[in-house]
Amino acid sequence: MTIASRYVEFGSREARGVSPAYERLSLAVARDDELLDLIGTLPPAKQQPNLLFGVVRLLGGPVEDPGAFHDYVLENWPVIAAEVADRATQTNEVGRCALLLPVLARLPQPLALLEVGASAGLCLYPDRYAYRYDDRPLGDGEPVLDCALTGTEPPDRLPEVVWRAGLDLNPLDVTVPADLAWLDATIWPEHAHRRARLRAAAAVAAADPPLLLRGDLVDDLPALAARAPAGATLVVLHTAVLYQVPAPRRAAFVELVRGLPGHWIANEAPEVLPYDGLPAEPGDGFHNVLALDGRPLAWTRGHGQAMTWFG
Ligand SMILES: C[S@@+](CC[C@H](N)C(=O)[O-])C[C@H]1O[C@@H](n2cnc3c(N)ncnc32)[C@H](O)[C@@H]1O
Repeated sequence: MTIASRYVEFGSREARGVSPAYERLSLAVARDDELLDLIGTLPPAKQQPNLLFGVVRLLGGPVEDPGAFHDYVLENWPVIAAEVADRATQTNEVGRCALLLPVLARLPQPLALLEVGASAGLCLYPDRYAYRYDDRPLGDGEPVLDCALTGTEPPDRLPEVVWRAGLDLNPLDVTVPADLAWLDATIWPEHAHRRARLRAAAAVAAADPPLLLRGDLVDDLPALAARAPAGATLVVLHTAVLYQVPAPRRAAFVELVRGLPGHWIANEAPEVLPYDGLPAEPGDGFHNVLALDGRPLAWTRGHGQAMTWFG
Protein backbone atom coordinates (compact mmCIF):
# COMPACT_ATOMS: atom_id res chain seq x y z
CA MET A 1 0.00 0.00 0.00
CA THR A 2 1.40 3.46 -0.87
CA ILE A 3 1.45 6.20 1.75
CA ALA A 4 -1.19 8.13 -0.22
CA SER A 5 -3.52 5.11 -0.33
CA ARG A 6 -2.98 4.54 3.40
CA TYR A 7 -4.18 8.09 4.08
CA VAL A 8 -7.13 7.68 1.68
CA GLU A 9 -8.07 4.43 3.42
CA PHE A 10 -7.92 6.05 6.85
CA GLY A 11 -9.95 9.06 5.72
CA SER A 12 -12.59 7.18 3.81
CA ARG A 13 -13.03 4.14 6.09
CA GLU A 14 -11.95 4.98 9.63
CA ALA A 15 -12.61 8.70 9.90
CA ARG A 16 -15.60 9.10 7.55
CA GLY A 17 -18.74 9.75 9.56
CA VAL A 18 -16.69 9.68 12.78
CA SER A 19 -14.32 12.67 12.49
CA PRO A 20 -14.95 15.16 9.65
CA ALA A 21 -11.68 16.95 10.55
CA TYR A 22 -9.56 13.80 10.19
CA GLU A 23 -11.42 12.67 7.10
CA ARG A 24 -10.72 16.04 5.44
CA LEU A 25 -7.11 16.15 6.65
CA SER A 26 -6.27 12.60 5.70
CA LEU A 27 -7.63 12.98 2.17
CA ALA A 28 -5.75 16.30 1.79
CA VAL A 29 -2.46 14.70 2.92
CA ALA A 30 -3.00 11.93 0.36
CA ARG A 31 -2.92 14.62 -2.40
CA ASP A 32 -0.02 16.63 -0.94
CA ASP A 33 3.29 15.58 -2.52
CA GLU A 34 5.42 17.66 -0.16
CA LEU A 35 3.87 16.04 2.90
CA LEU A 36 3.97 12.57 1.34
CA ASP A 37 7.71 13.01 0.69
CA LEU A 38 8.32 13.93 4.32
CA ILE A 39 6.19 11.06 5.64
CA GLY A 40 8.12 8.77 3.29
CA THR A 41 11.30 9.48 5.25
CA LEU A 42 9.73 7.76 8.31
CA PRO A 43 9.87 3.99 8.82
CA PRO A 44 6.67 2.34 7.47
CA ALA A 45 5.38 1.57 10.98
CA LYS A 46 5.57 5.30 11.80
CA GLN A 47 3.71 6.56 8.72
CA GLN A 48 0.25 6.04 10.24
CA PRO A 49 -2.18 8.99 9.98
CA ASN A 50 -3.27 8.58 13.61
CA LEU A 51 0.31 8.84 14.86
CA LEU A 52 1.25 11.90 12.78
CA PHE A 53 -2.00 13.71 13.56
CA GLY A 54 -1.71 12.88 17.27
CA VAL A 55 1.85 14.22 17.44
CA VAL A 56 0.84 17.47 15.71
CA ARG A 57 -2.03 17.84 18.20
CA LEU A 58 0.34 17.13 21.10
CA LEU A 59 2.67 19.89 19.86
CA GLY A 60 -0.26 22.32 19.61
CA GLY A 61 -0.36 22.33 15.79
CA PRO A 62 -3.50 22.72 13.67
CA VAL A 63 -5.39 19.63 12.44
CA GLU A 64 -8.71 21.21 11.46
CA ASP A 65 -7.42 23.18 8.45
CA PRO A 66 -5.38 21.12 5.94
CA GLY A 67 -3.59 24.25 4.60
CA ALA A 68 -2.48 25.31 8.08
CA PHE A 69 -1.47 21.68 8.82
CA HIS A 70 0.69 21.62 5.68
CA ASP A 71 2.51 24.83 6.67
CA TYR A 72 2.94 23.72 10.30
CA VAL A 73 4.39 20.32 9.34
CA LEU A 74 6.83 21.84 6.84
CA GLU A 75 8.03 24.43 9.38
CA ASN A 76 8.33 21.99 12.30
CA TRP A 77 9.31 18.74 10.60
CA PRO A 78 12.48 17.94 12.67
CA VAL A 79 10.55 18.21 15.95
CA ILE A 80 7.57 16.30 14.55
CA ALA A 81 9.77 13.52 13.11
CA ALA A 82 11.58 13.13 16.46
CA GLU A 83 8.29 12.85 18.37
CA VAL A 84 6.88 10.37 15.84
CA ALA A 85 10.04 8.26 16.10
CA ASP A 86 9.71 8.23 19.88
CA ARG A 87 6.05 7.31 20.10
CA ALA A 88 3.47 4.73 19.07
CA THR A 89 -0.28 5.13 18.77
CA GLN A 90 -1.30 4.25 22.29
CA THR A 91 -4.90 5.36 22.20
CA ASN A 92 -6.50 3.82 25.28
CA GLU A 93 -10.14 3.67 24.29
CA VAL A 94 -12.23 2.77 27.29
CA GLY A 95 -15.33 2.63 25.06
CA ARG A 96 -14.05 -0.76 23.88
CA CYS A 97 -15.10 -2.20 27.26
CA ALA A 98 -18.67 -2.06 25.92
CA LEU A 99 -17.56 -4.54 23.24
CA LEU A 100 -15.83 -6.86 25.68
CA LEU A 101 -18.65 -6.88 28.22
CA PRO A 102 -21.13 -9.22 26.44
CA VAL A 103 -18.38 -11.87 26.28
CA LEU A 104 -16.95 -11.26 29.75
CA ALA A 105 -20.40 -11.49 31.34
CA ARG A 106 -20.93 -14.98 29.85
CA LEU A 107 -17.69 -16.51 31.18
CA PRO A 108 -17.45 -18.43 34.48
CA GLN A 109 -16.94 -15.84 37.22
CA PRO A 110 -14.87 -14.50 38.89
CA LEU A 111 -12.40 -13.30 36.26
CA ALA A 112 -8.66 -12.62 36.23
CA LEU A 113 -8.10 -10.15 33.38
CA LEU A 114 -4.77 -9.96 31.59
CA GLU A 115 -4.63 -7.39 28.81
CA VAL A 116 -1.73 -7.38 26.34
CA GLY A 117 -1.07 -4.03 24.67
CA ALA A 118 -2.86 -2.41 27.59
CA SER A 119 -1.50 1.15 27.10
CA ALA A 120 -2.54 2.78 30.43
CA GLY A 121 -4.71 -0.18 31.41
CA LEU A 122 -8.06 1.62 31.20
CA CYS A 123 -9.77 -1.36 29.56
CA LEU A 124 -9.00 -3.43 32.66
CA TYR A 125 -11.96 -1.97 34.59
CA PRO A 126 -15.03 -3.22 32.67
CA ASP A 127 -16.71 -3.98 36.01
CA ARG A 128 -16.35 -0.40 37.27
CA TYR A 129 -17.90 1.50 34.36
CA ALA A 130 -21.56 1.95 33.40
CA TYR A 131 -23.05 1.09 30.01
CA ARG A 132 -25.96 2.10 27.81
CA TYR A 133 -26.73 -0.45 25.11
CA ASP A 134 -29.09 1.62 22.96
CA ASP A 135 -31.50 2.76 25.67
CA ARG A 136 -30.75 -0.06 28.15
CA PRO A 137 -28.58 0.98 31.09
CA LEU A 138 -26.28 -1.33 33.07
CA GLY A 139 -24.22 -0.35 36.10
CA ASP A 140 -23.95 2.97 37.84
CA GLY A 141 -20.28 4.00 37.62
CA GLU A 142 -18.50 6.62 35.52
CA PRO A 143 -17.88 6.90 32.63
CA VAL A 144 -21.09 5.76 30.95
CA LEU A 145 -20.23 3.93 27.72
CA ASP A 146 -22.76 4.06 24.88
CA CYS A 147 -22.93 1.20 22.40
CA ALA A 148 -25.45 0.42 19.66
CA LEU A 149 -25.90 -3.34 19.83
CA THR A 150 -27.41 -5.45 17.03
CA GLY A 151 -27.99 -9.20 16.97
CA THR A 152 -27.83 -10.12 20.65
CA GLU A 153 -29.26 -9.07 24.00
CA PRO A 154 -27.14 -6.75 26.12
CA PRO A 155 -25.53 -8.35 29.17
CA ASP A 156 -27.69 -8.26 32.29
CA ARG A 157 -24.82 -8.19 34.80
CA LEU A 158 -21.35 -6.83 35.20
CA PRO A 159 -18.47 -9.27 35.45
CA GLU A 160 -16.76 -9.94 38.76
CA VAL A 161 -13.07 -9.09 38.35
CA VAL A 162 -10.70 -10.23 41.10
CA TRP A 163 -7.37 -9.57 39.35
CA ARG A 164 -6.36 -7.18 36.59
CA ALA A 165 -2.96 -7.03 34.94
CA GLY A 166 -1.58 -5.47 31.78
CA LEU A 167 1.47 -5.84 29.59
CA ASP A 168 2.70 -3.15 27.22
CA LEU A 169 5.93 -2.28 25.41
CA ASN A 170 5.48 1.22 26.87
CA PRO A 171 2.97 1.28 29.72
CA LEU A 172 1.44 4.71 30.32
CA ASP A 173 0.57 6.04 33.74
CA VAL A 174 -2.56 8.19 33.94
CA THR A 175 -1.21 9.94 37.04
CA VAL A 176 1.74 11.32 35.00
CA PRO A 177 0.60 14.52 33.21
CA ALA A 178 2.79 13.91 30.12
CA ASP A 179 1.28 10.43 29.67
CA LEU A 180 -2.25 11.75 30.05
CA ALA A 181 -1.46 14.53 27.54
CA TRP A 182 -0.35 11.94 24.97
CA LEU A 183 -3.49 9.85 25.55
CA ASP A 184 -5.56 13.00 25.10
CA ALA A 185 -3.71 13.95 21.88
CA THR A 186 -4.54 10.57 20.35
CA ILE A 187 -8.27 11.29 20.65
CA TRP A 188 -9.79 12.68 17.47
CA PRO A 189 -10.48 16.43 17.38
CA GLU A 190 -14.28 16.55 17.67
CA HIS A 191 -14.54 13.76 20.25
CA ALA A 192 -15.26 15.69 23.44
CA HIS A 193 -17.21 12.68 24.78
CA ARG A 194 -14.10 10.50 24.46
CA ARG A 195 -11.96 13.12 26.22
CA ALA A 196 -14.49 13.22 29.07
CA ARG A 197 -14.50 9.45 29.44
CA LEU A 198 -10.70 9.32 29.34
CA ARG A 199 -10.67 11.66 32.35
CA ALA A 200 -13.36 9.64 34.18
CA ALA A 201 -11.63 6.31 33.49
CA ALA A 202 -8.26 7.77 34.49
CA ALA A 203 -9.77 8.64 37.89
CA VAL A 204 -10.91 5.01 38.29
CA ALA A 205 -7.44 3.68 37.42
CA ALA A 206 -5.65 6.25 39.60
CA ALA A 207 -7.76 5.24 42.63
CA ASP A 208 -6.88 1.56 42.23
CA PRO A 209 -3.89 1.22 39.88
CA PRO A 210 -3.64 -1.98 37.81
CA LEU A 211 -0.62 -4.25 37.77
CA LEU A 212 0.89 -2.85 34.56
CA LEU A 213 4.21 -4.26 33.37
CA ARG A 214 6.58 -3.25 30.61
CA GLY A 215 6.95 -6.23 28.34
CA ASP A 216 6.25 -7.99 25.09
CA LEU A 217 3.05 -9.90 24.40
CA VAL A 218 4.97 -13.02 23.39
CA ASP A 219 8.09 -13.01 25.55
CA ASP A 220 6.50 -11.87 28.79
CA LEU A 221 2.98 -13.27 28.68
CA PRO A 222 3.58 -16.72 30.24
CA ALA A 223 5.21 -15.31 33.38
CA LEU A 224 2.44 -12.77 33.93
CA ALA A 225 -0.31 -15.32 33.24
CA ALA A 226 1.26 -17.57 35.87
CA ARG A 227 0.62 -14.84 38.46
CA ALA A 228 -3.18 -14.99 37.98
CA PRO A 229 -4.93 -16.26 41.11
CA ALA A 230 -6.18 -19.85 41.23
CA GLY A 231 -9.96 -20.05 41.40
CA ALA A 232 -10.55 -17.27 38.86
CA THR A 233 -11.04 -17.67 35.10
CA LEU A 234 -7.98 -16.27 33.33
CA VAL A 235 -9.00 -14.08 30.38
CA VAL A 236 -6.24 -12.85 28.08
CA LEU A 237 -7.58 -9.98 25.99
CA HIS A 238 -6.42 -7.42 23.47
CA THR A 239 -8.06 -4.70 21.42
CA ALA A 240 -6.46 -2.82 18.51
CA VAL A 241 -2.97 -4.13 19.25
CA LEU A 242 -1.92 -6.74 16.70
CA TYR A 243 -1.72 -4.28 13.78
CA GLN A 244 1.38 -2.94 15.58
CA VAL A 245 2.95 -6.41 15.79
CA PRO A 246 4.90 -7.96 12.88
CA ALA A 247 3.15 -10.98 11.29
CA PRO A 248 5.57 -13.69 12.57
CA ARG A 249 5.23 -12.35 16.14
CA ARG A 250 1.44 -12.27 15.76
CA ALA A 251 1.52 -15.95 14.79
CA ALA A 252 3.75 -16.74 17.79
CA PHE A 253 1.34 -14.88 20.07
CA VAL A 254 -1.69 -16.79 18.76
CA GLU A 255 0.05 -20.11 19.28
CA LEU A 256 1.08 -19.08 22.80
CA VAL A 257 -2.30 -17.76 23.90
CA ARG A 258 -4.08 -20.87 22.60
CA GLY A 259 -1.94 -22.96 24.93
CA LEU A 260 -2.80 -20.97 28.07
CA PRO A 261 -5.58 -22.00 30.45
CA GLY A 262 -8.79 -19.95 30.53
CA HIS A 263 -10.10 -17.86 27.65
CA TRP A 264 -8.83 -15.50 24.96
CA ILE A 265 -10.75 -12.44 23.72
CA ALA A 266 -9.46 -10.66 20.61
CA ASN A 267 -10.82 -7.46 19.08
CA GLU A 268 -8.68 -6.82 16.01
CA ALA A 269 -8.93 -5.90 12.34
CA PRO A 270 -9.70 -8.93 10.14
CA GLU A 271 -6.61 -8.14 8.04
CA VAL A 272 -4.32 -8.75 11.00
CA LEU A 273 -6.24 -11.63 12.61
CA PRO A 274 -8.14 -13.38 9.80
CA TYR A 275 -11.03 -15.84 10.26
CA ASP A 276 -12.68 -18.24 7.83
CA GLY A 277 -16.30 -17.68 6.88
CA LEU A 278 -16.89 -14.18 8.25
CA PRO A 279 -20.27 -12.72 7.29
CA ALA A 280 -20.26 -9.52 5.21
CA GLU A 281 -18.94 -6.49 7.06
CA PRO A 282 -21.63 -3.93 7.89
CA GLY A 283 -21.48 -1.11 5.38
CA ASP A 284 -20.88 1.82 7.72
CA GLY A 285 -17.08 2.00 7.76
CA PHE A 286 -14.12 0.31 9.41
CA HIS A 287 -14.76 -2.63 11.77
CA ASN A 288 -12.76 -4.95 13.96
CA VAL A 289 -13.77 -8.53 14.71
CA LEU A 290 -14.51 -9.61 18.27
CA ALA A 291 -13.63 -13.26 18.89
CA LEU A 292 -13.61 -15.67 21.81
CA ASP A 293 -11.01 -18.46 21.75
CA GLY A 294 -10.51 -17.94 18.02
CA ARG A 295 -14.25 -18.04 17.20
CA PRO A 296 -15.49 -14.78 15.64
CA LEU A 297 -18.61 -13.36 17.28
CA ALA A 298 -19.22 -9.78 16.16
CA TRP A 299 -18.20 -6.88 13.97
CA THR A 300 -17.24 -3.92 16.17
CA ARG A 301 -16.71 -0.20 15.48
CA GLY A 302 -13.30 1.24 16.32
CA HIS A 303 -14.10 3.18 19.47
CA GLY A 304 -16.72 0.82 20.89
CA GLN A 305 -19.67 2.83 19.62
CA ALA A 306 -21.44 -0.12 17.95
CA MET A 307 -21.32 -3.87 17.52
CA THR A 308 -23.12 -6.27 15.17
CA TRP A 309 -23.30 -9.73 16.70
CA PHE A 310 -23.32 -12.80 14.42
CA GLY A 311 -21.77 -15.54 16.59
C1 LIG B 1 -3.58 1.27 19.86
S1 LIG B 1 -3.03 0.88 21.48
C2 LIG B 1 -4.47 0.06 22.13
C3 LIG B 1 -4.52 0.11 23.63
C4 LIG B 1 -5.69 -0.65 24.27
N1 LIG B 1 -5.63 -2.05 23.94
C5 LIG B 1 -7.02 -0.06 23.87
O1 LIG B 1 -7.70 -0.68 23.03
O2 LIG B 1 -7.41 0.97 24.39
C6 LIG B 1 -1.89 -0.47 21.18
C7 LIG B 1 -0.96 -0.75 22.35
O3 LIG B 1 -0.25 -1.97 22.09
C8 LIG B 1 1.06 -1.83 22.57
N2 LIG B 1 1.91 -2.83 21.91
C9 LIG B 1 2.28 -2.88 20.60
N3 LIG B 1 3.06 -3.95 20.37
C10 LIG B 1 3.20 -4.61 21.55
C11 LIG B 1 3.89 -5.79 21.97
N4 LIG B 1 4.63 -6.50 21.11
N5 LIG B 1 3.81 -6.18 23.25
C12 LIG B 1 3.08 -5.46 24.15
N6 LIG B 1 2.40 -4.32 23.82
C13 LIG B 1 2.46 -3.91 22.53
C14 LIG B 1 1.42 -0.39 22.26
O4 LIG B 1 2.51 0.08 23.05
C15 LIG B 1 0.10 0.33 22.58
O5 LIG B 1 0.06 0.79 23.90
